[in-house]
Amino acid sequence: MTWQEEVIAHRRALHQIPELGFQETKTHAYLMDALHAMGLDPVVHKTGIWADIDSLRPGRTVALRADIDGLPLLEDTGLSFSSNHPGVMHACGHDGHMAILLGTAARLVAQKDHWTGRVRVLFQPAEELPPGGAQDLIAAGVLDGVDQILGLHLWSEYPVGTARVAPGPMMANADSFIVRIKGRGGHGSQPESTKDAVLIAAQIVVNLQTIVSRRIGAFEPAVVTCGTIQAGTTFNIIAESAEVTGTVRTFSTAAQALIQQEIQHIAKTTARLYDAEAELVYIKGYPVVVNDARSAEQWANALEGTVTLQDDHPSMGGEDFAYYLHHRPGAFLFLGCAPDGEIFPHHSPHFLVNEAALPLGVDVLYKGVQSLLAADSAHGLQRP
Ligand code: NI
Repeated sequence: MTWQEEVIAHRRALHQIPELGFQETKTHAYLMDALHAMGLDPVVHKTGIWADIDSLRPGRTVALRADIDGLPLLEDTGLSFSSNHPGVMHACGHDGHMAILLGTAARLVAQKDHWTGRVRVLFQPAEELPPGGAQDLIAAGVLDGVDQILGLHLWSEYPVGTARVAPGPMMANADSFIVRIKGRGGHGSQPESTKDAVLIAAQIVVNLQTIVSRRIGAFEPAVVTCGTIQAGTTFNIIAESAEVTGTVRTFSTAAQALIQQEIQHIAKTTARLYDAEAELVYIKGYPVVVNDARSAEQWANALEGTVTLQDDHPSMGGEDFAYYLHHRPGAFLFLGCAPDGEIFPHHSPHFLVNEAALPLGVDVLYKGVQSLLAADSAHGLQRP
């Protein structure tokens, strides 16, 4: 087997055993076996793992992070190596992230004389399950002794052979909310004696759409999405209560605070218009992923000749990689993995990864750490 085939084989094996956040036990065992086979001595924290690889020359330490969890979805790709866990699927590419990081670790071990310093490979649970696994690993000491950190995400919107890494914001604040509406239930034939929670929920959903269009400036990126409405039991009963859930995406704390305040205002005043009540639960999720300018530029420069860099705007998606960047300088990168044919979005039951992106991912991570560690030793930088 070539190293490229080995990376793809890792991905296919991991694709078959997707597990939800903090339940990644089979995945954990697979990763441990692979790291032990490389002669590494991994540290374990819950289902998370990190392992240090030393080059032949002492220097600084760069961490490389992969997330390891799957999603609660019934896979519908028709792949020969589809999920063996019905109702759970690697539909975001985290199987690919693990395979890429294993391939990178293998190369770092095999080529210890080609780079300087130490690399910590880290496999993080529960990226898809806010508050996520990153903060837990940081509290457990995963960044102790680490100077910089890099991470990547497969990106199906970009063709294979392309990537995006840029200084500054890469991904958004990703918050969630619940609006609970309390009306008065009753008979479907006698609306006059009720306060119809279905009608009020519908009005609230429509009114919330005026926040981005009428309260946020045209140059401020923001999204308000209502994902669910739960109400009612049958056709001839007017619902007593309703619940609307949604997500809010922003880049500035000012926009984030304004939207939270507006959702509260709209929910309460709309309910009051119909003589009912509404309350808001607003949950702040992952903060903005902000790349350190120097790390991002160094990584981008190191990729010349490996991938074509995309000039694009930040993503409105969220990532708990943001937390590592609160503690250490580093950068996050999107790696193109568009399949031939139809592109399905991340988190779709039809989501496909073009496996040609995986060996390229190894080159991308390897060149990133190699360059950061070489540049750091050349500049004689101090640890933060
Ligand atoms: Ni993801």
